[in-house]
Amino acid sequence: MNVYDSERMTDALAPHGYETTTELESADLVLLNTCHIREKASEKVFSELGRLNEIREARRANGQEMMIGVTGCVAQAEGEEIIRRAPDVDLVVGPQAYHRLPDLIAKATTRTRGLGAREAAAAATRSGLVDTDFPGAEKFEHLPLPRREATIARGLTAFLTVQEGCDKFCSFCVVPYTRGAEVSRPVEQVLREARGLVDAGVREITLLGQNVNAYHGHDAKGAVVGLGGLLHRLAEIDGLARLRYTTSHPTDMDDTLIAAHRDIAKLMPYLHLPVQSGSDAILKAMNRRHTIADYLKVIERVKAARPDMAMSGDFIVGFPGETDADFEQTLQIVREVGYASAYTFKYSIRPGTPGAGMDNQVPEALKTERLLRLQDLVTTQMRAFGAACVGRTLDVLLERKGRFPGQLGGRSPYLQAVHLEAPESLIGTVQPVEIVAAGNNSIQGKIVTDLESKSASLNVSIVAVA
Ligand code: 5AD
Ligand code: SF4
Repeated sequence: MNVYDSERMTDALAPHGYETTTELESADLVLLNTCHIREKASEKVFSELGRLNEIREARRANGQEMMIGVTGCVAQAEGEEIIRRAPDVDLVVGPQAYHRLPDLIAKATTRTRGLGAREAAAAATRSGLVDTDFPGAEKFEHLPLPRREATIARGLTAFLTVQEGCDKFCSFCVVPYTRGAEVSRPVEQVLREARGLVDAGVREITLLGQNVNAYHGHDAKGAVVGLGGLLHRLAEIDGLARLRYTTSHPTDMDDTLIAAHRDIAKLMPYLHLPVQSGSDAILKAMNRRHTIADYLKVIERVKAARPDMAMSGDFIVGFPGETDADFEQTLQIVREVGYASAYTFKYSIRPGTPGAGMDNQVPEALKTERLLRLQDLVTTQMRAFGAACVGRTLDVLLERKGRFPGQLGGRSPYLQAVHLEAPESLIGTVQPVEIVAAGNNSIQGKIVTDLESKSASLNVSIVAVA
């Protein structure tokens, strides 16, 4: 979501004369868009700020200014504390206030111009430049839609945030505090943004939300539409080839959404459904509101709707009170589900969450040991999934030129990077590709020839007639 947010900030600043640069040294403004989900991500901000300050000093030696802003969830969680720790920061803007960025920057610019030297940037004048209000859905009404030229430059796949925030309050998680209560964007607003993306050449859209399947936006008639309904409306957009959504909570996989996996060909058969732990006792302590049996039932139903579905997940090891037996159950659920991909994390204490106050914290060394064991298992599964794709024909969205002449790169329905030999003219199309080899991080394929693909489509039409 931070990638999406950074793009929205760039789009909001473009009318004010800003354009993006990949060279920090030439930047008049640097926005550090931050993540607060785990301590490591959070602490990175301060070392980055140190590095940026050195670049700023070098620019000042040449008579140039550089404004530094901190945005994102660290900005939200720490607010003025950031300026206390890093007095050179010019502005601090939480995720719900991005639409006010141009104003805040103008305010900071006026101040910098008026006062000139760095010493004059007294902390008192900065107080108005810390914006961590929670105005709810207001942001999206004011942020401009993605710019056409920028969308074209960003490529054939795009993110689109449909909901933000979360009401689940898992006891380890800061999201309900940093991103706030769950807010869904209206259906028409989402459709307008999606149509704009597709008009600019986007072929695949990934709907985003911290709890995306809790989506419940209003349509033009005022009716509440869930994620399944929204996907149906998005699937009607001509030119859009693929839809995905992430991240979901198991208790919000409702019937309409599950049926959408059966009924919408554009919806990719790949579901990121975090379970976090394989132990019911730990799930309870995590306030996850579901059991392992509930989770497995959801997967069973999703796979019944879409038999070629592959699963991805998130896991936390070392949550307070996690015993060896609990951890074994996590390994067990991973074996049972057989993930195509999974993200594994050591529990990280987040100040202000219930988990932080639990007195049965797991020692760091044990967390590390468990993480390594879990990662081993997950890596084995990911490789097995890749290997099992060999011999299958997968639809691949051809996205770009490959590393070697004559080669193209794309993505399978399961988000695997696919390399193959094909003419450049096919970029932007979805092609049936026979997978011939699987590596650690990508798979290789060969395009199914015209004749073969024609007979494949003939088969499909016969089935349809029958
Ligand atoms: N410690 C470790 N991992 C966490 N996650 C969320 N909060 C924490 C935390 N305090 C993980 C969860 C979530 C993913 C986005 O980050 O697995 O699904
Ligand atoms: Fe955090 Fe996800 Fe739980 Fe919400 S559902 S509190 S975002 S882990």
